[in-house]
Amino acid sequence: MKKKNLIIFGTRPEAIKMAPLVKEFFKNSDVFETKVCITAQHREMLDQVLDFFEITPDYDMNLMKPNQNLYGLTADIITGLKPILEEFKPDYVYVHGDTTTTMASSIAAFYSGAKVCHVEAGLRTFNKRSPFPEEVNRSVAGSICDYHFSPTTTSEKNLLNENISKENILITGNTVIDALHFSSDKVTSDSYSDNEVTMLKDVVNSSKKLVLVTGHRRENHGQGFVNICSALKLIAEKNPDAQIIYPVHLNPNVQRPVYELLDGVNNIKLISPLSYPSFVWLMNQSYLIITDSGGVQEEAPSLGKPVLVMRNTTERPEAVEVGTVLLVGTNTEKIVSEAQKLLNNKEDYVSMSKLHNPYGDGTACAKIVNFIKGLEMSK
Ligand code: UD1
Ligand code: UDP
Repeated sequence: MKKKNLIIFGTRPEAIKMAPLVKEFFKNSDVFETKVCITAQHREMLDQVLDFFEITPDYDMNLMKPNQNLYGLTADIITGLKPILEEFKPDYVYVHGDTTTTMASSIAAFYSGAKVCHVEAGLRTFNKRSPFPEEVNRSVAGSICDYHFSPTTTSEKNLLNENISKENILITGNTVIDALHFSSDKVTSDSYSDNEVTMLKDVVNSSKKLVLVTGHRRENHGQGFVNICSALKLIAEKNPDAQIIYPVHLNPNVQRPVYELLDGVNNIKLISPLSYPSFVWLMNQSYLIITDSGGVQEEAPSLGKPVLVMRNTTERPEAVEVGTVLLVGTNTEKIVSEAQKLLNNKEDYVSMSKLHNPYGDGTACAKIVNFIKGLEMSK
């Protein structure tokens, strides 16, 4: 009898990082029956990823509501998963990272009796309010899950310190590197065409230094985003030889301040969220990245791009330690002064733009599949 896998995700970054795992399990369809369930905590931003990776979910819970709140979303995920788990009866359920989908799905999967597997396990800031609510989400998932796939030795160590048994942890690298490889193979194939990249080529002014910006963290909503927008405006004014491009996250708490404060500002181009390959293309074109994203902190160092992170804490210390990522918080002056150094001081720029990849070699998903196969063979 084939073992049954249910892979659950809900937001853009989970989809990017779980898509290669879905593909790897599909390659092993002689051993596993694998189904995909999306909570659709995100909608358009999730569908962009599913389209690119050509994944059709078996279950689409279609939960996203405009400006949703954590209470309703958590409840909807847990109750919505019950009939799916009861119908499919998976042996293994896979959740990823630290979103509300991750936390609520791990609880529901535990209730179902399945073995629960956490991909990107063990990241910690040790500050339960930063990032909010992700630090608590991943800690809850960590305490529930049976098997933990950690990207690095640092994340493994965090789990060992929480008394998780070493034999239930596997260091895999981050599946985002698998996704990056898949993406670059696909976009360089002869049959691939991408209208969005063609559109972007018209937007990018190749004679200017491209500053790529993303931001969405809940703890930065409100004053944090006002500060970030003030900083971007100042950077644009002070650096006529630079161009800021900002694909704005669809969360209304981000859209509202960003469009109110930055729309029409000279040297700043606000655009819609990009498909994954277009965003990777834009990261490659960029001189400097300013972000509060988790995933971008992992991708940019492996592309050799310096990153200013608009957060006070990070669960991804690996690139900070080697100096390709710098935490700048959401203080306007700090963001501007660090950006000024990188835009105007060659030495500062060179020292931060080292190629650095602490997140693996793109074989994380194969390692996960082999681990689960090994569990079954040892029975
Ligand atoms: C969520 C995750 C965060 C993750 C981020 C990735 C939680 C609590 N937050 O934050 O950990 O880093 O996704 O981007 O799990 N919206 C759309 N279309 C979309 C996506 C979002 O319109 O495709 C709007 C909706 O109004 C939605 C709102 O954004 O209600 C908030 O979405 P939500 O997933 O709750 O929060 P994010 O800020 O996206
Ligand atoms: N990304 C994308 N399009 C965009 C901006 C980002 O595909 O317009 C990708 C990016 O390459 C990374 C992921 O989305 O893999 C990060 O998502 P986000 O910042 O929303 O979430 P986080 O990683 O902070 O949880």
